[in-house]
Amino acid sequence: MNDTAILRPGAVALVTGASAGIGGAVAEALSARGARVICAARRLERLRDLVEALSTPGLALELDVADGASTRELIERLPADWRQIDILVNNAGHDLGGRSPFQDREPADIQAVIETNVAGLLQVTRAVLPGMHERGRGHIVNVGSVNGFEWAADSTVYVASKFAVHGFTASLRQELTGSGLRVSEIMPGTVRTEFAAARWRGDEARAGAFYESRGAVLSPVDVAEATVFVLERPPHVNISDLVLRPA
Ligand SMILES: NC(=O)c1ccc[n+]([C@@H]2O[C@H](COP(=O)([O-])OP(=O)(O)OC[C@H]3O[C@@H](n4cnc5c(N)ncnc54)[C@H](OP(=O)(O)O)[C@@H]3O)[C@@H](O)[C@H]2O)c1
Repeated sequence: MNDTAILRPGAVALVTGASAGIGGAVAEALSARGARVICAARRLERLRDLVEALSTPGLALELDVADGASTRELIERLPADWRQIDILVNNAGHDLGGRSPFQDREPADIQAVIETNVAGLLQVTRAVLPGMHERGRGHIVNVGSVNGFEWAADSTVYVASKFAVHGFTASLRQELTGSGLRVSEIMPGTVRTEFAAARWRGDEARAGAFYESRGAVLSPVDVAEATVFVLERPPHVNISDLVLRPA
């Protein structure tokens, strides 16, 4: 471990979408390095189970990133000794109703994807950033996707959301130059998680067949290890984009 790294024992991290997949693995990896982790998502029971299994104190936070009231009051809802967030991992996201032609997409699904993947990520960042600024200390890691720079037929809405994440992340990084704060984006290819089942509203058989059809896939731990790498760089190093693909 690097002594000057922001990821160190006692650091406070907030991970959105920690109730499954990549977010759960990131929470575990940060805790294993000694961070105190606020695990946020909508499914509180799952978060409680996760927090109980962490090796450091953790906090289960019920948070719907697509709900403006939920994100606006995020910091106020935290106990006082959890408010000084050093690390924000914006990971919550989904592709509800995806992998189908745009003209067939349910308007409500389109809205849900954009409100979660884009507006939610922006609002959580908006809630956390002022405190980081005040302290002159913080690292924001956005979980984007290879679909943040590669387009794909039948994935129009998801691609639009991840291109937005990519543009926001790069612009915010530029805006924060010289502030002491860092902004990074992790852009994975296919990771085997609950993502495909969520896309198809719990159809596990279809999700399983999808991952089998992909051949090689990444695991959530692969993405968590990349996140740790980004957060363990010394203060003068900002990894802007980290692309991971299954080999
Ligand atoms: N799997 C892949 O192939 C892949 C590839 C590249 C990038 N990604 C990105 O990685 C991130 C995590 O995905 P995953 O693969 O780990 O999927 P996952 O296993 O389905 O996990 C998604 C997480 O996001 C949370 N979430 C969804 N909507 C939310 C909301 N409105 N508010 C708060 N939390 C919400 C879910 O928790 P609740 O349902 O409990 O709220 C869950 O914890 C996403 O941003 C995704 O786009 C995934």
